[in-house]
Amino acid sequence: MTSNASIPFVDLVTPHRELKKELTEVFQLALHTAGFIGGPAVSGFEQEFAAYCDTRYGIGVGSGTDALRFALTATGVKAGDIVLTAPLTFIATTEAISQAGGRPDFIDIDERTYTMDPGKLRQYLETECTLDPTFGCMVHRKLGRPVTAVIPVHLYGQTADMDPILELASRYGLVVIEDACQAHGAEYFSKTQNRWRRAGSMGAAAAFSFYPGKNLGACGEGGAVTTNDPEVARVVAMLRDHGQSKKYHHDMEGYNGRLDSIQAGILSVKLKHLPRWNEQRCESARRYDELLAPMAGNVTTPYRPSWSRPVHHLYVTRTPLRDELQNHLTAAGVGTGIHYPIPVHLLTAYTGLGYKPGDFSVSEEAANQILSLPMFPGLDERSLQRVVDFVGDFTALRAGH
Ligand SMILES: Cc1ncc(COP(=O)(O)O)c(C=O)c1O
Repeated sequence: MTSNASIPFVDLVTPHRELKKELTEVFQLALHTAGFIGGPAVSGFEQEFAAYCDTRYGIGVGSGTDALRFALTATGVKAGDIVLTAPLTFIATTEAISQAGGRPDFIDIDERTYTMDPGKLRQYLETECTLDPTFGCMVHRKLGRPVTAVIPVHLYGQTADMDPILELASRYGLVVIEDACQAHGAEYFSKTQNRWRRAGSMGAAAAFSFYPGKNLGACGEGGAVTTNDPEVARVVAMLRDHGQSKKYHHDMEGYNGRLDSIQAGILSVKLKHLPRWNEQRCESARRYDELLAPMAGNVTTPYRPSWSRPVHHLYVTRTPLRDELQNHLTAAGVGTGIHYPIPVHLLTAYTGLGYKPGDFSVSEEAANQILSLPMFPGLDERSLQRVVDFVGDFTALRAGH
């Protein structure tokens, strides 16, 4: 890379070039055996991924969205149920809720971690809901619907604060589905269990995405549900395969939502490299933290609570001059991203739900100020320093130096 070369937001080419031989073998095996659907490649990856996530079961599915939808249905979410999640997420979280028949409602985020604020979840359950004897569960007073599940989103590679969320869910009878689509390998220190727990192993079930840019990405689409519950695993495995328990015996209607064998083989190859890739991301995050520290008054770096071992899917900074900084970096040839510019409750797709600006102000303010800097395994020290130098130029310029 020459000194003036642009710095991409993410580099998906280099890791594939490095693994070309192993990945090509996966394609060749599939061509030689015509094993495109199911088979040992899929079951092998499922076992490896479950072991990685510290769960009993892993079920490969077509995408992270499928994983969320199947997890919701398999854990008992029914048509009309309210499912709670955070407004600062990708629309797939709420799409899955709606597609499973539910109605999304929101709990605002903590302003430092960007994940669901457990205090606000408590407040919602205590003040907006009541235990309804007819339904035998929590019911939202105004909407008159049962509140049956909560999806904490492990955003940017960092888990939500799970102990209090799990405690509230257990007290109020809610199912917890982790949206771990951005958090392969992230860990949470549970005080109640006095141990580190892997993302994907804490809820009744969890959803992972293997979209190519994820920490563990396929060469196409893919996803997985992880769970310790054999019944949830059984139902998810049926849902992804047209509701079949065995060939042409359809116990229910399901979907065509399978992980194909080529993607599973590719994911097995890549899973071996994931710990190293995650470590490289963490090292880059540490360097960014150090180098950006002198600009703390202008640019806020990600907050890492003591209970979190994140895997830095994204490195998200925050500044009130976000748009100006993004333009400055773009002009300098640095790729950036905004995750996400519009909180889900304000998306046009959800106008029908009647939310308005100000309803979830912490998410809304964050959405106006966050900026993701380049982050990928193999981001070299020189490029990283150049990104920080450009940020420094910007802050100096703004300070009138
Ligand atoms: C937080 C979150 N949830 C769900 C998804 C959906 O995953 P997929 O794109 O594989 O359907 C994504 C992926 O972008 C995500 O980031």
